[in-house]
Amino acid sequence: MNSKKNHLPALIVIFGAKGDLTRRKLIPALYNLYTGNHLPEIFTIYCVDYLVNEKTFFKNDLLTGINEFSRNGIAEEIKWNEFASKLFYIQGDFHEAGTFSSLKEKANNFDNQNGQRSTQIFYFATAPRFIETIAEGLYKHKLCNRELLDRIVIEKPFGTDLNSAKKLNVFLNERFAEKQLYRIDHYLGKETVQNIMAFRFANYVFEPLWNNKYVDHIQIALAEQVGVGKRGGYYDSSGALRDMIQNHLLQLLCIVAMDCPAAYEAELIRDAKTNVLKSVRSYSDKEVFKNVVRAQYTRGDINNTTSPGYREEEKVLPDSTTETFFAAKFFVDNERWKGVPFFLATGKSLPKQVSVIVVQFKESPHKIFKGDIVPNRLIISIQPELEISLLFESKVPGLQMKLQAVDMDFTYQEAYTESLPEAYEALLLDVLHGDPTLFMRADQVEAAWKVVMPILNAWKKHPLEQLHFYKAGTWGPEAAQDLLKPYAKKWFQLPRMERMIGTL
Ligand code: BG6
Repeated sequence: MNSKKNHLPALIVIFGAKGDLTRRKLIPALYNLYTGNHLPEIFTIYCVDYLVNEKTFFKNDLLTGINEFSRNGIAEEIKWNEFASKLFYIQGDFHEAGTFSSLKEKANNFDNQNGQRSTQIFYFATAPRFIETIAEGLYKHKLCNRELLDRIVIEKPFGTDLNSAKKLNVFLNERFAEKQLYRIDHYLGKETVQNIMAFRFANYVFEPLWNNKYVDHIQIALAEQVGVGKRGGYYDSSGALRDMIQNHLLQLLCIVAMDCPAAYEAELIRDAKTNVLKSVRSYSDKEVFKNVVRAQYTRGDINNTTSPGYREEEKVLPDSTTETFFAAKFFVDNERWKGVPFFLATGKSLPKQVSVIVVQFKESPHKIFKGDIVPNRLIISIQPELEISLLFESKVPGLQMKLQAVDMDFTYQEAYTESLPEAYEALLLDVLHGDPTLFMRADQVEAAWKVVMPILNAWKKHPLEQLHFYKAGTWGPEAAQDLLKPYAKKWFQLPRMERMIGTL
């Protein structure tokens, strides 16, 4: 295996230093990479934001972010002080040339001190409306100007529809090489998600079964217990389809449905994934309403606590039609998957957080046992359980031939002593290392938008049609269960214990 240590000095610049992402994810991830000895020996981190008078509080704020959100808990004082000595705050407006000339000067000084050109990483942890402004600032000031050394990381949402994503791609591609652009989808950095390719392509036992001859259907569900919280302003113009399906769920679909690439190489893997997106069947308006369910949560109880309805959330319009729940049946029209439905679902304010991929294999064509024989099912649990299990029917010990589902499990907890890196640690290290495998290429993002456009368009034309509601703390509207018929009785989103007691 490659060591992921990059020996060149690194200049890391985070735009949007005061944002939640920096405090919750980026700084804790960089700190853990530092304490794990994964960062280059020489590095510096500049955090840029426009808020004044933050300088003095800035490092403390980041430290409390690490203490609260790092997987390793409270930062060690010595390590933190070492790390903090490389952290700097720049107060600057993204619209002003001065912000970039000052950065340029700092970058030059850094290189002069080290006697060599560093790798420059620019992380756009800002609202999407700043992407072009910052990119232009970098371009004009000849920052990020070495194709092989310098990279830009862009958070989702990348565009709000196909046209805006295309325009953004053109804008960025006119200024930077595509290989410098790292469009991040943090799901791809999750350990359990990265493991799906290993599971599929390093174990030939499943691959012969991974097609329409043996697979009945596949479910991919990312359920969240949290509501939109303080993100109502963003979410109300986004909704579950743009926020979760266009990126995270479609990427999971790609990993599950893709063909084996010729080698474990970034472009080959990204080609294989893009091919899946290009094969997803496009729906007419009528088909959208038949195959897609959208819904919004209303006031309800989660864990015995009253949770507000979506329309009561901060910065959400009182008559909003934005969906907080999405479920759909998709088809991947290629030779491997012709006729196999892929059910995708996601929602907020559901009873619990659980992300899971379920491959339901077909029933035996020749049944010799009586009764309801269902299992034959592979379950890949992404979070919070980290496991892969094969559910199969077994004879219950006793004097009768009675069958019951049991499971064969691989859990990370039992198999490994290593603690799991956070997705952002894995992804930031890949950026430093120049490995784009887990990032979205321009054509991939556009292909993903193409999949969701017919749905967005149908909803735009018929804003109120089939907008369902569900109480916070329930598993979404009944219509989502109906969608599964006749393939399954219900979504297999329940964790292991509930599966075992036969609720499915
Ligand atoms: C983000 C979405 O991309 O993913 C959020 O914008 C969502 O709405 C989050 O809550 C879920 O990520 P995770 O890693 O907590 O499952």
